[in-house]
Amino acid sequence: MIEVQNLVKDFGDNRAVDRVSFQVSKGEVLGFLGPNGAGKSTTMKMITGFLAPTEGDVLIDGKSVKENPLETKSLVGYLPETSASYHDMTVRDFLEFIAEVRGYASTKLSNLVDDIVKKCSLTDVEHQTIETLSKGYRQRVGFAQAILHDPPILILDEPTDGLDPNQKHEMRTLIREMGKTKCIILSTHILEEVDEVCSRVIIIAKGKIVADGTPEDLRKNSSMYNRVYLSVHKAKELAVSEKLTSLPNVEKVEVISENESGLQELFVYPNNKLNILSDVSKLAQTESWVIDSLSLDKIKLDQVFRLLTTQGEIQ
Ligand SMILES: Nc1ncnc2c1ncn2[C@@H]1O[C@H](COP(=O)(O)OP(=O)(O)OP(=O)(O)O)[C@@H](O)[C@H]1O
Ligand SMILES: [Mg+2]
Repeated sequence: MIEVQNLVKDFGDNRAVDRVSFQVSKGEVLGFLGPNGAGKSTTMKMITGFLAPTEGDVLIDGKSVKENPLETKSLVGYLPETSASYHDMTVRDFLEFIAEVRGYASTKLSNLVDDIVKKCSLTDVEHQTIETLSKGYRQRVGFAQAILHDPPILILDEPTDGLDPNQKHEMRTLIREMGKTKCIILSTHILEEVDEVCSRVIIIAKGKIVADGTPEDLRKNSSMYNRVYLSVHKAKELAVSEKLTSLPNVEKVEVISENESGLQELFVYPNNKLNILSDVSKLAQTESWVIDSLSLDKIKLDQVFRLLTTQGEIQ
């Protein structure tokens, strides 16, 4: 549905997006991650035709955004980072205006706006002007205008930003549901959202893609994958560390802390990302170590994100 081809965007000397290419299919919810200033919003603006690329192109359902701006825009719903809504209009008037622009009229138009107001929980503020809305409600209006014409493609720039926990949950449920039949790209800084909603992740740093895969792929590619966490009584530490290092499938042992209750915490890294939990457990039994805790370390996506965007770990 979306084919991003070698996109480049220069702002003066600053290359905000640097040869970015990827494809997204129907049924995918792609999480677009990256530090502030990485180029996420700029890429999204080029996909929606809001901003012209310096080089490259985007195909929407096989058609160039450059050459077919109207046709491709009709297939896309866009929630921009800062919602460009008309502040002195009421929520109802604004949504009716958007519906008109999208080609709806008469009863079809008012039924459509009724539905969207309900779906986005805007009933209470329907007749309030947009400038008097709280941030979260303004965000919901932005989302309502993006999904109003039921487009097959949604580009959502930080859709849950500013929402309260209940609304975040509702928004995520809605996106996951819509993701079954649509093609969705969303940017976010909330990494737990990615596990909840996204079937695939792209991480972008300084305008370049540094990772592309399922959240599980990203964890697997990390050097931390399948490391074992061990906390053990300190008196045995030297022997523990040495014995662990001599296990055939262990690459290295990292001592992470010694705490005051006399426990030493360690990470044991396997060779070739093998699962060495049972090897470590057997060794502990044979050596009669006093183990406080032993487990496979569950990598958080934000650890992977930090490695990729600050230390340049290559995928
Ligand atoms: N209109 C503009 N004029 C000049 N520079 C711009 C413009 N828009 C964006 N930039 C620059 O392009 C780079 C990428 O910005 P962009 O907004 O795409 O980042 P982002 O990944 O969306 O960040 P954030 O997480 O903060 O939203 C930044 O260096 C930014 O300053
Ligand atoms: Mg942005």
